[in-house]
Amino acid sequence: MCGSATILTEAGLLAQRIAPGLFHQGKFGFENWYDFDSELWTQVREEAKAQRLEEPQAYIAGSDLDPKVIDMAASNITAAGLEDCIRLSVRDVKDATPPKTRSPASSSPTRPTASE
Ligand SMILES: C[S@@+](CC[C@H](N)C(=O)[O-])C[C@H]1O[C@@H](n2cnc3c(N)ncnc32)[C@H](O)[C@@H]1O
Repeated sequence: MCGSATILTEAGLLAQRIAPGLFHQGKFGFENWYDFDSELWTQVREEAKAQRLEEPQAYIAGSDLDPKVIDMAASNITAAGLEDCIRLSVRDVKDATPPKTRSPASSSPTRPTASE
């Protein structure tokens, strides 16, 4: 029930220490403020980029019944640079099984539709 992978992507960004907004293209509104410090902003962005962990830090997997939704999820995960961190499969949730080894952080977040 991973849908377009919003929750999987958020989990991947957290696990890999990728700062929110790091992929933002163009300017943020505050860059137009009269006292905006572009040198400081560049420094903050560089520090945030340096925090990113390249080795996958967590087992993150998602599945959905709909193969087209899984294709969309894969595109979104690739756009976030998380293709090495998140595994996807087409599967009915009733056939899902937990990983063999469970870490204390294991959980199964879902956001089913109201009718499900
Ligand atoms: C509300 S969406 C999930 C939204 C998701 N959290 C996101 O961020 O995109 C519900 C998803 O559940 C999937 N779904 C419905 N029944 C399912 C089932 N029995 N097994 C697996 N997935 C199912 C649908 O294909 C749909 O993509």
